[in-house]
Amino acid sequence: MTDYVTVTHEDGIAIITLDNPPVNALSLHLRQPLFAAIEAARDDAGVKGLVIACAGRTFVSGADISEFGTDRARATPSLPELCALLESLEKPAVAAIHGTALGGGLELALACHYRVADRQAKVGLPEVKLGILPGAGGTVRLPRVAGPEKAVKMIVSGSPIGAADALASGIVDEIAEGDLTGAAVAFARKKVAEGGPHLPVRARNEKIEATHADPAAFEAAVKQATAKTRGLEAPLACAEAVRNAVELSFDEALNKERELFTRLVSGVQSRAQRHLFFAEREAAKIPGVGKDVTPREIRKVGIIGAGTMGGGIAMAFANGGYPVTMLEASEEALDRGFATIEKNYAISVQRGSLSEEDKAKRLARFSRTTDYADLADADLIIEAVFEEMSVKQDVFGKLDKVAKPGAILATNTSYLDVNRIASFTARPQDVVGLHFFSPANVMKLLEIVRGEKTAPDVLATVLTVGKRIGKVPVVVGVCHGFVGNRMLGARGDDLEPLLLEGAAPEQIDRVFTDFGFVMGPFAMWDLAGLDVGWRNRKSLGKTAVIGDALCERGRFGQKTGKGMYLYENGSRTPTPDPEVAKLIEDKAAERGIERRAISDQEIIERTLYPMINEAALILEEKIASRPSDIDIVWVNGYGFPIGKGGPMFWADLEGLKTIVERLDHWHARTGKKVFEPAASLRRLADTGGSFSARPA
Ligand code: CAA
Repeated sequence: MTDYVTVTHEDGIAIITLDNPPVNALSLHLRQPLFAAIEAARDDAGVKGLVIACAGRTFVSGADISEFGTDRARATPSLPELCALLESLEKPAVAAIHGTALGGGLELALACHYRVADRQAKVGLPEVKLGILPGAGGTVRLPRVAGPEKAVKMIVSGSPIGAADALASGIVDEIAEGDLTGAAVAFARKKVAEGGPHLPVRARNEKIEATHADPAAFEAAVKQATAKTRGLEAPLACAEAVRNAVELSFDEALNKERELFTRLVSGVQSRAQRHLFFAEREAAKIPGVGKDVTPREIRKVGIIGAGTMGGGIAMAFANGGYPVTMLEASEEALDRGFATIEKNYAISVQRGSLSEEDKAKRLARFSRTTDYADLADADLIIEAVFEEMSVKQDVFGKLDKVAKPGAILATNTSYLDVNRIASFTARPQDVVGLHFFSPANVMKLLEIVRGEKTAPDVLATVLTVGKRIGKVPVVVGVCHGFVGNRMLGARGDDLEPLLLEGAAPEQIDRVFTDFGFVMGPFAMWDLAGLDVGWRNRKSLGKTAVIGDALCERGRFGQKTGKGMYLYENGSRTPTPDPEVAKLIEDKAAERGIERRAISDQEIIERTLYPMINEAALILEEKIASRPSDIDIVWVNGYGFPIGKGGPMFWADLEGLKTIVERLDHWHARTGKKVFEPAASLRRLADTGGSFSARPA
């Protein structure tokens, strides 16, 4: 019929094939011919049943997210209209699912009478991750096939499930081996032969009624699913919608779902989360590295250093299926490193997130050595040794001698100059920074540091490998601290003055958690260890009034039971400590600082605004390729709230003009460099521009 929809007929079954690459999203140009094709099949007396199938790599993977908020999303036929049409058919409709049936895709399939999937297929309603809820009947139809408990779990988490699980829970009716469309046609013919009426999902009420009669298990599932929503509205709305499906009639619940969807889709959180969806995909496009660049093949990975970072990185690779050789200076260090790795896996087994069998498989991927020569067959070698240039020089000198030609040599440095590190080898084109975040087996962010000479295919390789081990990679340039830590430095620059002038550590931390951060800066310092910064400062000849005084008293943070806060009896919950309050007051008095009440807004202005300013400099210097890359760094590596879309998205919401005005104010008052507005930030503010409107 059109390029997007073709219809063929096989023995009385109309096969409607959708073809809207790359993921068959339900764009308007697809919905229109699809609606017409379904109507035509309905009205054709020769057609006894329908199959809806997809060309390309996947079944429909959702509504077209890029249409949200535009007239195209509202234009007829809408997805709910399409679903209603399908559901009104008296002839059986069968969805043939391969790849991923996600969001609107699964909703379309649920509006069919039946679903046949291939064994690798996945189905899910991930809308919550975009700050919305399924808006085309997903919250009312899924509970009718899978039961409200399973539905609420799937819809609130947004996580897809595999075909076997979908079959067991009643979401799909058959798993096809071999030719999927053929199996779906055969299934449709069988249903035609059995004769009608063919019950639409809306009429299947047994599981709803059972929950209605005894809601205890469902309520427990809701409680569990919504236990950690971190200030996001969508998970709660998802749970509310499924509850409506249990308590109200189909049509009433459907109308309520629509109301909730309409409210969420126009809200800031959803805009922010959609921005992050596209930002993450944009980050995978590296300027100057085209699609024609072929990544190198990585079969074996070497890790130097079995400490916290090295161990975590090694686990990330082993979890991703790579054989890993770990190198340490001594057998004892290897023993210690391995003991921690085994303990971490054992904890996962205990928590039920890993099976004994998978634990064994992962551990079997490790080998160990103290001899650099054993890294000769590694395709990628990552060092995670002490942060000192002379140590890095030694390691890279040795690697240069043993690594095979074409092996990628990576440093996990957090601050050091990757170009200098590359210069310690005769192959700087093969050297790259891979900055993991602690704990490296858990944290999603991977800063890929591109050196002056790093080869394009090295970047393409580490990007691919990073994704394969479940990380969100972002390519950044060389500077002290790269993107994340450099901005973190700017954020923390005025913290001590804030304390001395009158803010309490717990007030500052509360402002951050109210903002949506997972934890405030002082709780984070205590977690990381105050001694880390102290040692670092000493080596640079720097001081910090409060931080140094705490360390001098042996207060290193959680590990010593006290730091900025108290942690009594091994507790991890920070408790404000009068001794610290007194220390701060004394230090302020020594310096003649008059203490005053500090407002929450002032704390934001003196911590988050400088961070935005630093980001503007980072963009000017081309350390980050685009503002959205910075958002991805902060959301995935530093707990920036996803509902605010990352620092740059948030800065646009806050208003660049306001930010510059307040930076000017604090700069005039303190003379501190971090408050001096970057030229590009001032220009954007003066011209009414925004970060999101900047060309990529
Ligand atoms: N709308 C528009 N574009 C989409 C899209 C969607 N739903 N899903 C993916 N794309 C685009 C991506 O932006 C990307 O574009 P570029 O190549 O230009 O960057 C391209 O398709 C390929 O996507 P990926 O790189 O993510 O490919 P992948 O193979 O790694 O993953 C996928 C495929 C699992 C489908 C993944 O893209 C995904 O999770 N997509 C989103 C699924 C989703 O959230 N669906 C729900 C939509 S909301 C909805 O349906 C609301 C409703 O109820 C009405």
